[in-house]
Amino acid sequence: MLRPATPADQGLLERWHRQPHLRAALGDDDWHWAAELRRQPAWREQLIAEVDDRPIGFLQIIDPTHEDSHYWGCIDEGYRAVDLWIGEPDALGRGYGTQIMNLAIERSFADPSVTAILVDPMDSNVRAHRFYERLGFEYLVCRRFGDDSCFVYRLRRPGSWSRSRSATAPG
Ligand SMILES: CC(C)(COP(=O)(O)OP(=O)(O)OC[C@H]1O[C@@H](n2cnc3c(N)ncnc32)[C@H](O)[C@@H]1OP(=O)(O)O)[C@@H](O)C(=O)NCCC(=O)NCCS
Repeated sequence: MLRPATPADQGLLERWHRQPHLRAALGDDDWHWAAELRRQPAWREQLIAEVDDRPIGFLQIIDPTHEDSHYWGCIDEGYRAVDLWIGEPDALGRGYGTQIMNLAIERSFADPSVTAILVDPMDSNVRAHRFYERLGFEYLVCRRFGDDSCFVYRLRRPGSWSRSRSATAPG
């Protein structure tokens, strides 16, 4: 269901980004697809989700400690941050997002050094909040990233509660 995104996906990702449901959820950030799809830094995976060979969504998993724009600020080792969206409107609300997020969780925790996963939907994206809460994410804090006000959610590695060093927001 997941394959690496390549430069050949630029048109697809730009088209998805213009969809009204994504403009509302992602804001006006420029993802610089032409440049970003041509580099594969060690701290990031960019993946396309497909159903029956049809691309329907995008998944990005980053190591926020090493991400080079320091989007998450100064943050301890041991996290992954995930961005996920369904690009094709007719694929929304059919359970694919849940399946993709479960794969992202599995992929992130496959690295034993990862203790928690972060997501940052916009504060206005109430349906996405519900989506992440249903998957077990806990709300941490409302935080500003650039021009956007976002809710930060965290999913801790199952069984890691007692080892958690802090219950405060990272970054
Ligand atoms: C959030 C998202 C990834 C969920 O994937 P999905 O395949 O639609 O979700 P599922 O079918 O697995 O689960 C349904 C739930 O997803 C959420 N959802 C469905 N459509 C949504 C939409 N247009 N926007 C935000 N969340 C939505 C809701 O929580 C929904 O449950 P509800 O019907 O009880 O409100 C997907 O809807 C999406 O890409 N939305 C737009 C972009 C976005 O909000 N991304 C996340 C924040 S960056």
